[in-house]
Amino acid sequence: MALNMVDCGPKTGLFFNCPIMLILSISEEKKMTIPARGSTVDVPAPAIDPGVGMEALYARLADVIPRAEWDLHLPVIAAISALKRERRAIILSHNYQTPEIFHTVSDLTGDSLALAREAAAVDADVIVVCGVHFMAETAKLLNPEKTVLIPDPEAGCSLASSITPEDVGRLRRQYPGAPVVTYVNTSAAVKAESDICCTSANAVEVVESLDADRVIFLPDEFLGKYVAARTDKELILWKGHCEVHEKFTAAELRRYRQQYPGVYILAHPECPPEVLAESDFTGSTADMIREVGRRRPEQVFLATEISMSRNLAAEFPEIRFIHPCYACPHMQRITLPGILECLRSMRHAVEVDPLVSERARRAVERMLELGPREKR
Ligand code: 13P
Ligand code: SF4
Repeated sequence: MALNMVDCGPKTGLFFNCPIMLILSISEEKKMTIPARGSTVDVPAPAIDPGVGMEALYARLADVIPRAEWDLHLPVIAAISALKRERRAIILSHNYQTPEIFHTVSDLTGDSLALAREAAAVDADVIVVCGVHFMAETAKLLNPEKTVLIPDPEAGCSLASSITPEDVGRLRRQYPGAPVVTYVNTSAAVKAESDICCTSANAVEVVESLDADRVIFLPDEFLGKYVAARTDKELILWKGHCEVHEKFTAAELRRYRQQYPGVYILAHPECPPEVLAESDFTGSTADMIREVGRRRPEQVFLATEISMSRNLAAEFPEIRFIHPCYACPHMQRITLPGILECLRSMRHAVEVDPLVSERARRAVERMLELGPREKR
């Protein structure tokens, strides 16, 4: 496997947060097999098949997880798997979860749209969302009767915190009659003030579906500009940014092109417009995964969160990944010990204020009613 490991990535894993007691049962747990994983709506098959042994799995992950760390993860993975069965729980993980979560305990993985769709269809008593708070809130909106847990309720998002329901009300008064589209990266209270939600995977389709010439699109300015370039509608934008994607620059991408001739660059639409202009492909996290799987370039740079690059490096060992340097500090709050603890204690259940939940759910359901987009 050709891997370009840069030293700017985050230090992941248990060395930093594992209770010492977990180390004791490693040899016993090495015998375990991997729990079965499902697949998301249109995300490639997961890296793990049921029944594949832990050593076989580690062979795939060896370039992205140091052996010593992996040995510390094993008993935690085993304990989570046992508790999942006991609680009839299912784990939904976003593509930005670290490899030791994404490739082991996750039952379903995907982008925000896939997770929302799966959350609506899930058959379990408990849903554990390994992602940020708005993702868990969306799962709760779609499953009001189920217990939805998030391992760390402080896992926020700079886009979600950039706008309040009062801001949406002010914009509505300023632009009377203009429908409001909110990115799913918002609080339930903000969703409740909007007409329909979107994700980065369907933002253009959602805007195009509206019978209006002028649309208020919130809160991601860069995603809004990306959509505005693909529709004749006038978009009213907000100056919210993703604190991870706004760090990428066009100059940085040009440097990678010089350093790694032929590198195929994929960028998330939360990146600034000049970064998207410099890239070869733009799409949601799931779009990027599909594109890498379809095109199989020799070298890839993903202008997005680092964990996804590491997850894909394990999935496509023949491709050389030049890993980005930026981690989402909110996504990284989710850890294996945190997942274990929340399943053990059933703490951090997500609740949505009944005054907002019905209207927020309606905005999410309107998006889901638009149906899956045709695969390109
Ligand atoms: P996706 O919907 O593309 O997975 O993106 C979610 C996100 O938070 C990107 O930063
Ligand atoms: Fe929010 Fe950016 Fe983190 Fe995604 S990567 S959860 S948009 S802060």
